[in-house]
Amino acid sequence: MTAHKIPLVGVIGAPVGHSRSPALHGHWLARYGLPGHYVPLEVAPEDLPEVLAALPRMGFVGANVTIPHKEAVVALAHRVSDRADVIGAANTLVFDDEGRIHADNTDGFGFTENLRAALPDWDPSSAPCAVFGAGGASRAVIAALVDLGAPEIRLANRTFERAQAREDQFGAPVKAVPWEEAAQMVAGCGTVVNTTSLGMQGQPPFDLDLSGIVPGAVATDLVYTPLDTPFLQAARAQGAQTVDGLGMLLYQAVPGFERWFGQRPEVDEALRAAVLGA
Ligand code: ATR
Repeated sequence: MTAHKIPLVGVIGAPVGHSRSPALHGHWLARYGLPGHYVPLEVAPEDLPEVLAALPRMGFVGANVTIPHKEAVVALAHRVSDRADVIGAANTLVFDDEGRIHADNTDGFGFTENLRAALPDWDPSSAPCAVFGAGGASRAVIAALVDLGAPEIRLANRTFERAQAREDQFGAPVKAVPWEEAAQMVAGCGTVVNTTSLGMQGQPPFDLDLSGIVPGAVATDLVYTPLDTPFLQAARAQGAQTVDGLGMLLYQAVPGFERWFGQRPEVDEALRAAVLGA
């Protein structure tokens, strides 16, 4: 970026109107008094290659990527971080001066930092972990748990083959668990994570029996609409420490903002309020 230009960043998705990222980054830009703009970019899949080639020529220094483009951008990027490669999806793009696209995935960072910020003693290496759901978001969570030394990751998914695919990819410690046995897998686990869409506004409820959760276990839900999900309520009823999923969204945005706008931003209550009010 040349010094006199005002940096532009966008979130690329379809639909993108629901994205909280413009409010999130807009809050930080205002808070730090930085020049720059962050805008929603509704882009159809067939237009993605052309749009990505054009954005750097229009003053864009990078982008976030959301559904349905997170996998496609990996194939279109000139350089892909190890994390994005392992996860098979990218959420953060940085454009260099030559217009080349660097793709990264900060979802695992967001997951980890959210739990660390809420519960500084959280240590996923001290006991088995249980993960519900083996979709796109789950991969980032599994990769993060593997990185943090989780000794065992029990992974249950409605479509068993998807859980098996993660077991094949990551090997030990991931253990695919049939959906019918999902309720039992939480026994003895120190970390329990919902990555399915169950419990999200407009989706079926999360209704698996969580009575096997041990008191003191850490439970977190990637769903943050509503903030206090049925999954978190059920886990709390067993004595679990619960952390809502909004923080993962906030923390995954930190590395991108720093790279694009040159300021390491802080996640705090004012940011949460700005994003919730969006
Ligand atoms: P994301 O990127 O948010 O993970 P996704 O890849 O579509 O989105 O994954 C959604 C997850 O929710 C999957 O684990 C999905 O299970 P399947 O792989 O069997 O589709 C899970 N999910 C969605 N609806 C569900 C339901 N009614 N019951 C159980 N799991 C469900």
